[in-house]
Amino acid sequence: MSVLLTGGSGFIGLPLTKELVSKGNHVIVLDPQPNLTILQRLGEGVKVVQGDVTHYEEVLQVMREYQVKDVFHLAAILSTACEENPSLCFRVNVEGTVNVLEASRAVGVRKFIFPSSIATYGPGVATPVNGEARQEPLTFYGATKVFCELWGLQYYRKFGIDFRSVRLPSIIGPGRLDGGASVYASLMIEKPAIGDKYTVYVDEETSIPLLYIKDVTKLLVSLFEALQVRTRIFNVGGITPKAVEIAEKVKQYVEGAEIIFKPNPSVVAMVRKWPQADSSKIESELGWRVSYNLDLLVRDFVQDVRSCRNPAG
Ligand SMILES: NC(=O)c1ccc[n+]([C@@H]2O[C@H](COP(=O)([O-])OP(=O)(O)OC[C@H]3O[C@@H](n4cnc5c(N)ncnc54)[C@H](O)[C@@H]3O)[C@@H](O)[C@H]2O)c1
Repeated sequence: MSVLLTGGSGFIGLPLTKELVSKGNHVIVLDPQPNLTILQRLGEGVKVVQGDVTHYEEVLQVMREYQVKDVFHLAAILSTACEENPSLCFRVNVEGTVNVLEASRAVGVRKFIFPSSIATYGPGVATPVNGEARQEPLTFYGATKVFCELWGLQYYRKFGIDFRSVRLPSIIGPGRLDGGASVYASLMIEKPAIGDKYTVYVDEETSIPLLYIKDVTKLLVSLFEALQVRTRIFNVGGITPKAVEIAEKVKQYVEGAEIIFKPNPSVVAMVRKWPQADSSKIESELGWRVSYNLDLLVRDFVQDVRSCRNPAG
């Protein structure tokens, strides 16, 4: 019996695969661009399949061949790319999710874990936003995530698939490459850690909810391991440091770090609308808490980046 991770070679997928394997799970990674260098290091516990969630037969075949019992459906096109290419966004995020849910039903999958996003909320929601607030996203990405949440819930109600989801804030960590508007928060740590100068495109006062990748991995594993859940979709908040506070913290751990601010007003206006979320339900039901505050986060992030560049160090 195996756990399938669609999009398992991405920013969240790789550390999650590692964590699930370390807990004794047999993981199948389905991804069109698998990172074989990293995945093969994880040994016998991982099987890598180069595949695409937009091809239903392919997904079904993988689930049958490897007797998949649980699914983490991470495959998606992220926010900026969705705005640039809405039809690709629809194919992967909507049709891909319909395919993975339908194949899950066909083979009798038990748990189906789906990372949704705080981007499902539009501007003007009361913060911290709780799970009852109305979802009126003004982006293609947000709209696809709302659809997937509703579709997944219906598979739970009608077919008993144990659909569980979290609306995540922006995730921060080494190796975050996409051009999403929140990427500055990762790059202003990663670039100085490797000795590069970084120009931040938001202003010093900008603050958006952020969650460290190690907190996310722990969160997704807790959601998966919980014997049962009362809430099907949890809102998840993060820490909200100002950009200037991140810069000061980086300078504390990276001697000579060069971070300069050159704000782009339209990006600042956009990211300032992102709401903080109310995590009280996930805290009380799963006992999960944010464990990386800004200090721990920056210290750990810098250490990880440096140890990857200098594995002997
Ligand atoms: N990173 C964040 O800040 C964030 C926040 C909220 C929610 N999420 C969600 O978490 C999930 C993972 O995000 P991530 O940050 O790891 O993104 P990522 O872009 O790093 O990873 C996505 C993975 O999906 C794969 N993929 C793309 N098209 C595919 C297809 N047709 N079939 C199979 N795989 C395909 C990509 O190759 C990639 O490895 C996504 O669903 C995303 O919407 C991410």
